[in-house]
Amino acid sequence: MTSVGHNLYYILTFTFILYPFLRIVCFIYNKIWKVENCENFIDRIHAENDDKGEEDDGLIPSLPEELEHIPLKFGRLSVDESLKRSEDFYVLLNSRRSVRHFSKETVPLKIIHNIIKTAGTSPSGAHTEPWTYICVISEEMKQKIRTIIETEEEINYKKRMGKVWTTDLKPLKTNWIKEYLTDAPCLILIFKQTYSFKNDGQRRLHYYNEQSVCLSAGILLAAIHNAGLVSLVSTPLNCGPAIRELLGRPTYEKLSLLLPVGYPAENCTVPDLKRKALEEILIEF
Ligand SMILES: Cc1cc2nc3c(=O)[nH]c(=O)nc-3n(C[C@H](O)[C@H](O)[C@H](O)COP(=O)(O)O)c2cc1C
Repeated sequence: MTSVGHNLYYILTFTFILYPFLRIVCFIYNKIWKVENCENFIDRIHAENDDKGEEDDGLIPSLPEELEHIPLKFGRLSVDESLKRSEDFYVLLNSRRSVRHFSKETVPLKIIHNIIKTAGTSPSGAHTEPWTYICVISEEMKQKIRTIIETEEEINYKKRMGKVWTTDLKPLKTNWIKEYLTDAPCLILIFKQTYSFKNDGQRRLHYYNEQSVCLSAGILLAAIHNAGLVSLVSTPLNCGPAIRELLGRPTYEKLSLLLPVGYPAENCTVPDLKRKALEEILIEF
């Protein structure tokens, strides 16, 4: 083949074979990337629109446009009082432990309501409050949840999690049998709302719903401990859709965490874990 023939051959190969192939690869990559980064993508678009300072764009904020701003209720503490409270709160929370052996003793529902009300005081992206708390005390419902979780967890432990993960869990003595799901008097399930609907049926975007729900869950944990109860944070792998369906929640809600809550069983033990010292978790400039 002449050099002109070679060049023509490369150009035709690139135009009709390589180029369409690359376009398809880019298209698929772009689709996957967009799905994975959907929330960031939406946030970015909104931030860009904000930057443009668009006026009269027909958009109505989700909160009342003329929202009143009121004086902050703030009681100033003395430095001594502040120091004492910060120390006391640390001592209180440092005594919190994850409990995997529960007594069947019931907890007054009013306490659970107060705890969940406290979790609902959490800050949230644009005050979207993207959480649904579900409290299960029905024995039948707890058993159904346990069956879903134990079925999936057996597969998780035997197949999905892999050797490294299951080896790391060995000192905690966990496995796919979850007696606490039916022993604990109450299961609290936290669903993350990825979006919701406004009164006019329009979608309301829930910015930073992941971070907001995690903050709310942290406050929940502190409130549970403060009320003299114990709990366990759990993340039932691969169980979200089945539990969501069981509880009749909509598809835009995703199961984030499940916590059995109650009192510890008699002779309950916990792993003797040490927490990192301040110097290991704090960098100061
Ligand atoms: C996001 C998250 C997921 C967890 N998932 C599980 C779980 O599925 N099963 C379990 O037994 N413990 C679970 N834990 C509890 C941890 O093992 C526990 O917090 C850790 O060992 C430290 O113990 P402590 O809570 O007593 O300080 C989870 C904790 C967190 C924060």
